[in-house]
Amino acid sequence: MTKVLVVDDNPDIAALMARTLKDQGYEVSVAGDGWSALEMASAQHPDVILLDVVMPVMNGIEVLRRFKGDAELRAIPVILVTVKNEDADIVAGLDAGAHDYVTKPFKKEILAARVRSAVHIKQNHDRLARISRQLRTEIVERQRVQHELARAQKLESIGHLAAGVAHEINTPSQYVGDNIRFLQEAFADFDTLLDKLDGLLEAARQGTLSDELFAEAEAAVGKADIGYLTEEVPKAIEQSLEGIQRVADIVRAMKEFAHPGDGCKQATDLNQAIQSTLMLSRNEWKYVAELATEFAADLPLVPCLRGDFNQVILNLVINATQAIAMVVGDGSAGKGALTVTTRRHGDWAEIRIRDTGAGIREDIREKVFDPFFTTKKVGEGTGQGLAIAHSIVVAKHGGRIWFETEVGRGTTFIVRLPITDQAAGNEAGRFKTAEVVC
Ligand SMILES: Nc1ncnc2c1ncn2[C@@H]1O[C@H](COP(=O)(O)OP(=O)(O)OP(=O)(O)O)[C@@H](O)[C@H]1O
Ligand SMILES: [Mg+2]
Repeated sequence: MTKVLVVDDNPDIAALMARTLKDQGYEVSVAGDGWSALEMASAQHPDVILLDVVMPVMNGIEVLRRFKGDAELRAIPVILVTVKNEDADIVAGLDAGAHDYVTKPFKKEILAARVRSAVHIKQNHDRLARISRQLRTEIVERQRVQHELARAQKLESIGHLAAGVAHEINTPSQYVGDNIRFLQEAFADFDTLLDKLDGLLEAARQGTLSDELFAEAEAAVGKADIGYLTEEVPKAIEQSLEGIQRVADIVRAMKEFAHPGDGCKQATDLNQAIQSTLMLSRNEWKYVAELATEFAADLPLVPCLRGDFNQVILNLVINATQAIAMVVGDGSAGKGALTVTTRRHGDWAEIRIRDTGAGIREDIREKVFDPFFTTKKVGEGTGQGLAIAHSIVVAKHGGRIWFETEVGRGTTFIVRLPITDQAAGNEAGRFKTAEVVC
């Protein structure tokens, strides 16, 4: 039932108003002064308040100000009902936040009509507040689901990359193993040679040198093939060190990629982060694309959620690779080109990922960032890559992501991240490098 609170220090007028409103089907309470009005409004949350202005202790305008200053009561429409009928009084009442103004003596029908209008407004307000609450809950839920999806996609890509990474680690491991076996054999020959040379020195010291000893030493020198070894051993060592460094780089990149992050932006070298992701995903693109990179040396550190940023680059690189594969197949008859560049553009760090793939058809260009929009076969894509990239770039970093495309020639995805928090519209101030921003 719709509740109305009547506030008037004159019991007869209060009773008259109460009767009039009860006849209209409202549930009516009566307060005789400002303090009781405040207490009763807080306890009952009426839909409309009829408020006398001239009252002892606290006048109606003051009571009204207190209602409007209380977040819980602010939305209740207040109709001032008063003998004060000067224009200035009406203006002051409305300025103080009154919904309406009725002068005494009032006509019952007019009072009832004004209350009806106020109730209508209050009901609309309540409906809007309910919808807004629902929307807020839905937004929070949607953000939670998006977060979960992003996490799931990341885990999935880690699983997927793992096979390629294993392969990438296997290659250097194999040639490091081969080199170590070569060094082992070379060392065995050196060992024999050193023995013979040792014998020769000892014999020289003793004065017992013989042709036989010379022949043995010469044979050992020949077997060891010193010229070949002095050329090949340093190469084998260098190559092995490179291989070990490569494995270490891949493991570091994988650790960095898989790291869940602590939700804080960190000053990030985007060039290095992109390089790591390209290295991790090498097995995905290397059969179908020649990679070219051009990283701007003057790109400053950018406040960035590293794990999320890596995910964006991976999603774009995988898309580019899949688009190229649509044109070149397995790459055996020629590869496409994958070009990744970075540059500073004013207050933005810009990353471009260009492919010579099939391009994006005009009729689907509007949809590619929609969650679950995909043109790929089941098992090849779920349509989440660009939706996740968009939410990471735009919602989490205040950046921009878009593409330029030409059917039959290829596509370039462009990501811009703000170099400072200020550029991202964050009033918190400038991001200082090497600082963590949470
Ligand atoms: N570089 C590109 N070239 C051509 N088409 C693209 C490119 N990137 C995206 N698309 C189109 O946009 C669609 C949506 O891409 P998105 O990355 O969101 O999903 P997906 O790649 O289909 O699946 P997922 O990324 O979840 O594995 C793709 O199915 C494809 O049609
Ligand atoms: Mg994708």
